[in-house]
Amino acid sequence: MGSGIAQVCAEAGHQVIVREVDDDLLEKGLGKIETFLAKGVEKGKVTPQRKAEVLSRLRGTTDLARLCECDLVIEVVTESLEVKRQVFQAIDAACPPATIFASNTSSLSITEMAATTRRPSRFVGLHFFNPVPLMKLVEVVRSPLTDPAVFEEATAFARSLGKTPVRASDRTGFVVNRLLVPYLLDAIRALEEGVGSTVDIDEGMRLGCGHPMGPLTLLDFVGLDTTYAIANIMFDEFREKRFAPPPLLKRMVQAGLHGRKTGRGFYDYSQEPARPLSGLV
Ligand code: 3HC
Repeated sequence: MGSGIAQVCAEAGHQVIVREVDDDLLEKGLGKIETFLAKGVEKGKVTPQRKAEVLSRLRGTTDLARLCECDLVIEVVTESLEVKRQVFQAIDAACPPATIFASNTSSLSITEMAATTRRPSRFVGLHFFNPVPLMKLVEVVRSPLTDPAVFEEATAFARSLGKTPVRASDRTGFVVNRLLVPYLLDAIRALEEGVGSTVDIDEGMRLGCGHPMGPLTLLDFVGLDTTYAIANIMFDEFREKRFAPPPLLKRMVQAGLHGRKTGRGFYDYSQEPARPLSGLV
C-alpha cells in the first residue's frame, strides 16, 4: 500500500520522501508509480508534464533519519505491533517534536503505538484502502491521547488527497474492518460448509448485492495472510466468534496460498481469467 499512498500524496501536490528497507524494494515501489503514470500518459489521461511533476515530488531513501524533513510521517510496515513499535521509536528519535505520526494500521491499537513515542498527542491513524489511488475512503483515527487540533489536521490532510475522511475512535478494526472482516470470514465458513462453490459465493454477492468483487476474490486481493493477521488481532481484542479465523483460512496461509500476491488463493492466477483453485474443501 505504501506506493499507492506515496502516489496519491505526490499527485495532490505534497513533497514525499519514501523510505524503504532496501534499494530493491524502493525501486519496485517507485517503479509501480512510474508504470501507472506511464499507462495514464499512453491512454491520454495524464500529460507527460503532469507525470514528470508528480515523479519530481517523490524522493526515495533507505535511511529512516531522512524522515526528519517531514511534517507528517505515515507508517505502512507489516501488521505487527513489535515491528511498528521499533519503527516508531526510531523515527521518534529522528524527527522534531512537531512532526505528526500516523499509522496505516487496519487493526492494531493506535493508543498502544502512540504511547511508545514521546509525542502521543501528535499521533493518529490514517487507514487507507486498497487500491489506494482508486478507493475514496480514509479512516482517520484518534486515540484518547490525540490532540483535537492534530485530529483536525489529519482529517484536512486526508481531504487534501481528494479522499473522503471517516473519523473513528481507536477500537480494533475501526469502522470498515469491524464490519468487513466478519463478512469475509463468513464467506470462508460458507465455502467450508459446502453452502456454495467459490464462484457461487462470489457471484452471489457480486450480482445479488452489487459488490464490485465477491468476498473470496476480495480476500485474494487483500491477501489471506493479511486477513488472517487482522482476524487474529480482532479475535484477541473482542473474544467473539465472528472474528475467529476459520480453519480453512489458517491452512491456506500455512500452505502459502496468500492470494494474488503469491499467484494462488481461492483462485489460481497463473492463467487469464483466473480459475477457482480446486481441492480446498
Ligand atoms: N493508479 C492509477 N490508476 C490506476 C491504479 C493506480 N494504482 N490502479 C488502477 N488504475 C486505473 C486502471 O488502469 C483503470 O484505468 P482505465 O479506466 O483507464 O482502464 C482504472 O483505474 C480502473 O481500473 P480497473 O479497471 O482495474 O477498475 P475496476 O473498475 O475493475 O475496479 C477495483 C477495480 C477498484 C479494485 C474494484 O474491483 C473494487 O472496488 N473492488 C473492491 C476493493 C475493496 O473492497 N477494497 C478494500 C479492501 S479492504 C482494505 O483495503 C482494508 C485493509 O485493512 C484490509
